[in-house]
Amino acid sequence: MSTRGRFLVFEGIDGAGKSTQIAALTAWLQTQGVATVTTREPGGTPVGEAIRALVLTHEMHAETELLLICAARREHLLTVIEPALAAGRWVVCDRFADASFAYQVGGRGVAPERFRQLDEWTRAGRQPDLVFLFDLPVATAAQRRAQRDAADGHTECDRFERESEAFFAAVRAAYRVRAAQDPQRYCVLDAQLPTERLTEIVLATVAQRWFAPKTRQPPSQGVAHDG
Ligand SMILES: Nc1ncnc2c1ncn2[C@@H]1O[C@H](COP(=O)(O)OP(=O)(O)O)[C@@H](O)[C@H]1O
Ligand SMILES: [Mg+2]
Repeated sequence: MSTRGRFLVFEGIDGAGKSTQIAALTAWLQTQGVATVTTREPGGTPVGEAIRALVLTHEMHAETELLLICAARREHLLTVIEPALAAGRWVVCDRFADASFAYQVGGRGVAPERFRQLDEWTRAGRQPDLVFLFDLPVATAAQRRAQRDAADGHTECDRFERESEAFFAAVRAAYRVRAAQDPQRYCVLDAQLPTERLTEIVLATVAQRWFAPKTRQPPSQGVAHDG
């Protein structure tokens, strides 16, 4: 294994199960002696969290939203992600560039070319080593969010949580388009599977790539296929 850290990203609409599996993966990585940094987007830095709060609460043009999220991402890369990877830490990030494509292009309708230009500038070549996409019907995600929010006593919806089922369906579709473009980098998961089964798949996928002999086969059961 090289001394450079790995960059793992969890993507999917709100309620898909990202946070649940990030907790399981980071706990397991720690048992493997891997130093991890767990972070999120938009956010992950003081200025990024301020931008997150702005984007979640203020009405704005979709292009403004994309610019702000990319600004937060640039700060995150320069001050958190790149230094951690250079120091050999593994970065586990809740959402990254695919979320901008899914939400701002797929959901809000920003021109894909705008995203492409800005994303190239923002990432400056940095790519996740692996992206887990938690894919599920938007109605299932909405039910889970409602249950989670009731349990947390959370009542106020942010600008994204107030969006329609059609918006989330467009976000989901855009995520799947991105994943289909680069099957080596993306692991598309059927997020309707039980939590424990998803954890098994996530850990096995990471173990197979970086902790085990190359001859082992990746898990196939439970991994969603398009069509
Ligand atoms: N595989 C699963 N099956 C059923 N419920 C789940 C599953 N994974 C997560 N949940 C529940 O759904 C809600 C949303 O999960 P969470 O991990 O917060 O999703 P996200 O971070 O993607 O928004 C939580 O209440 C969580 O306990
Ligand atoms: Mg979450």
